[in-house]
Amino acid sequence: MLKSIVKKGMIGVLVGIILVIVARLTHFPPMFQAMFFIYAILGAVVFILLDAPSMNRIEGGKAVVALVLFYVVLSGVYIAGASLWPQYDPEVEKGKIKKILKAKRAKTNLGKQEELIARAKALAERAKSITKQLNALGAGAQVASQGASEVAFTMGAASGDLVALGKEQWDLQECYNCHKLFGIGGKKRGPKLDNIGNLMTPEQLYEKILYPKRWMTEGFEKQYKKGKMPDKYRDLMEDSEVQALVAFLSTLRDTSVTTPKPIKMKLK
Ligand code: HEC
Repeated sequence: MLKSIVKKGMIGVLVGIILVIVARLTHFPPMFQAMFFIYAILGAVVFILLDAPSMNRIEGGKAVVALVLFYVVLSGVYIAGASLWPQYDPEVEKGKIKKILKAKRAKTNLGKQEELIARAKALAERAKSITKQLNALGAGAQVASQGASEVAFTMGAASGDLVALGKEQWDLQECYNCHKLFGIGGKKRGPKLDNIGNLMTPEQLYEKILYPKRWMTEGFEKQYKKGKMPDKYRDLMEDSEVQALVAFLSTLRDTSVTTPKPIKMKLK
């Protein structure tokens, strides 16, 4: 009897050790290694119990009580056992993963934006020097230096990626909440912007986003006075993000949509 118990117990321990070694080799966390070991021991206990002398027959009410008691004890053991393990809240874990990913994404996006802006700036410099040469030649080229920088800005924007990042900012900053664009969004609070690229220069767009009060949209005097367009973006957005957004807005030149005229305001 005792011999059988010892023998089965030893097999249980042996199986447990093998499980732990395998679990370790396959990089299970220590908690799981311990769990596998305990499962092996529990298995051995079941085999040992198989050898136990059979109990006397229980009948009637006693049998019902015994059955209920058996369930209560077993459930208790399970619940107590389970609560000993560390608990993972999936929402907490998801939150952690999100945080890590966010930092990573921000890093790569920012890097990309900075690179694109540097490229746009280099183009602006080249446009400026070409303007200078033209002026020096007296070719009568009436290319104002602001115009040149605008051209360069649009050239930079045309490099696609910056525009895509700008579209991303449009969605992230939820401009669509008030502005209809491509027929999407806007709860009639602000003007449609499909043709804004024809009405405002990049510099003006930049100003409007950061200081909305400096420009008023024709026909939206009431909303302008109420300050409907938020002036929070200069706190929320990195400069590079604003530039990307401006690049995106500059590409909006759909003349079939009426975008109302912007009016420069003189602020006291
Ligand atoms: C809560 C509503 C609201 C949000 C959000 C909002 N705007 Fe506006 N926006 C307005 C209103 C109203 C006007 C017109 C009144 C005014 O000029 O201030 C306007 C005007 C503009 C204009 C001038 C349009 C014209 O034809 O003159 C531009 C450009 C613009 N918004 C860009 C943006 C961008 C880009 C964002 C997101 C970063 C944004 N807006 C977010 C309400 C909003």
